[in-house]
Amino acid sequence: MAHRIGIIGGDGIGPEVIAEGLKVIKSAGVDLDTVDYDLGGGRYGRDGTVLPDSVLDEWRELDALYLGAVGAPEVPPGLIERGLLLKMRFALDLYVNLRPFVYPSASIDFAVVRENTEGTYAGEGGFLRNGTPHEVATQGSVNTRYGVERAIRYSFDLAMQRRRHLTLVHKTNVLTFSGDLWERTFDEVSAEYPEVETSYNHVDAACIYFVQSPEQYDVIVTDNLFGDILTDLGGAVSGGIGLASSANLNPDRTGPSMFEPVHGSAPDIAGQGVANPKAAILSGAMMLDFLGESAAAQRIERACADPVTDVKGTVAIGDAVAQLVA
Ligand code: IPM
Ligand code: MN
Repeated sequence: MAHRIGIIGGDGIGPEVIAEGLKVIKSAGVDLDTVDYDLGGGRYGRDGTVLPDSVLDEWRELDALYLGAVGAPEVPPGLIERGLLLKMRFALDLYVNLRPFVYPSASIDFAVVRENTEGTYAGEGGFLRNGTPHEVATQGSVNTRYGVERAIRYSFDLAMQRRRHLTLVHKTNVLTFSGDLWERTFDEVSAEYPEVETSYNHVDAACIYFVQSPEQYDVIVTDNLFGDILTDLGGAVSGGIGLASSANLNPDRTGPSMFEPVHGSAPDIAGQGVANPKAAILSGAMMLDFLGESAAAQRIERACADPVTDVKGTVAIGDAVAQLVA
């Protein structure tokens, strides 16, 4: 049976890189039954649609979603990002944002587990006396024991399948409430995984270690905003954001998971055929792995790491990878 996949190319370079990902998956011999969704800034500009509930309901019946990038300069900043991408992560309960970084020449092989449904992303807060000289803006960070614990448990399970080392990244010295909840939960769950060695880094220190000694990491677990920032840095130190893949997972499999490159829509280079599609291709490999097609996923990963696929141009890179996995 073909896997039923919803395709959201999105904006900018999104559709270009997703086309290469689909080409590579097909070449690897995996059969996908795809449904295209015209969503993103372009669609919003035409008829004001962002993400109808009817579409969300259709998605719940699919096996996975494969997304390029959303966000366009001609629409209000953040509107599509929040209304489509974040809404999807929250509504489908994609509580793990898994972002692996592999870059052998710098001895990098680690994965960041970013909690994906809470923290400062939850939208808690508001204005008081908005627009006056006395205005107040608050933006809270929502951390539930349930939400923190499930991200941490996922991370320990992942560490068990890898090199059995897990680092909690937070800012417990200043964020005394949320940090305390994260730290206590981490320590309690840790007792159930005696084989996993643990450590803790403040997020600012982690930024130094990402640059100076990234080989110390195996699995990292952190909150939504720290994870957002750290994973851009992770991309920058491991071959560039053009290689950074991600999976927005519902590990309980009560609905589809969503796979997307870490990078954005890059409107400045859209339509020029110069975007590196490897982040999207590798996100496609993560999707195949999650769908049980691990042999094809591994072939795609190996092909992306092969220097013969280090060519110039979106389509040329896609062709080179497709040829190797065929
Ligand atoms: C990411 C992106 C999104 C985020 C934006 C587009 C809302 O930066 O996936 O990392 O902040 O999560
Ligand atoms: Mn980001």
